[in-house]
Amino acid sequence: MTFRYMLAPLEDTSDNALRELCFNHGADLTFTEMTRLRSAVDENKSSLRKISIINNVPTQIQFAVQNEFDLKKFLDKYTPSKNFKGINLNLGCPSPQLINLGMGCAMIKRVSKVNSFVKLIQSYGYGASVKLRLGLNAYEKKMKSYLNLINDVDADFFIVHARHGAEHYEASADYRVFPEMVATGKKIIANGDIDSIRKVNLLKKIGVSGVMVGRAAVTDPAIFERLKGLKGASFDELRSEYSILSEKYFETNGFNEKYKENVLKRLGKNKKFSEENNVQG
Ligand SMILES: Cc1cc2nc3c(=O)[nH]c(=O)nc-3n(C[C@H](O)[C@H](O)[C@H](O)COP(=O)(O)O)c2cc1C
Repeated sequence: MTFRYMLAPLEDTSDNALRELCFNHGADLTFTEMTRLRSAVDENKSSLRKISIINNVPTQIQFAVQNEFDLKKFLDKYTPSKNFKGINLNLGCPSPQLINLGMGCAMIKRVSKVNSFVKLIQSYGYGASVKLRLGLNAYEKKMKSYLNLINDVDADFFIVHARHGAEHYEASADYRVFPEMVATGKKIIANGDIDSIRKVNLLKKIGVSGVMVGRAAVTDPAIFERLKGLKGASFDELRSEYSILSEKYFETNGFNEKYKENVLKRLGKNKKFSEENNVQG
């Protein structure tokens, strides 16, 4: 199986323009930012924009799902575009708003519920993946409830952000959890702080099936090419390509000024990867 490189879902950031830029520079699969399924079912305009796939980029739609009823309602109505690659379930969001409803990180324990969502999505012939953290908090991480989920849910793959829900970004992602996950025989995609070929090689050695890159892909959207050992575009090239793409999608994605701002204030600003890997940029 080929090792896969994925762009992470990023709120107010991973719109059609950024997804296409990263795809043009080596990302194999991309994700829409998290949308509450309920609001997509209610045809909330901004939610429908978030899940629109209007380019030729392989993309999964990420949802926070509360119940099968809404999910079925959505699936019955949904007309997939050519590059829709399935639905990703968000089991990683630590926001109290979602947690109080039993969603986000709180859903890692709700194994049979998650499996019923996955089965329902698959029954429509669509791909179904799960993105999770290591539990709601340090206690749940210690209890390894994430292993029950990985063992008992039949998702196509599991993207694991290697932090628990109470951890902020100052704490490093904990790659020590991956060997046990890989041993389940399920496809594991590693996520968290991935920004160098050295880390990718370490994760490949552990046996994960791919990596997902979030923040480092905003500062360097060609990180996927570079992680693959290719030369990669310069930051000036990336900036101008991104500006053209975001103009192109402006009409269909009316609120993209915020997205554009979020990308352009970061693109090229953190040169860590380029420096570490001898890339000019
Ligand atoms: C600004 C921002 C927005 C995010 N939005 C989402 C989201 O909508 N859905 C999601 O599953 N994760 C979201 N995340 C988490 C990322 O997808 C990813 O799991 C996390 O940043 C760790 O990867 P990284 O170290 O490569 O950035 C977000 C992270 C950031 C920094």
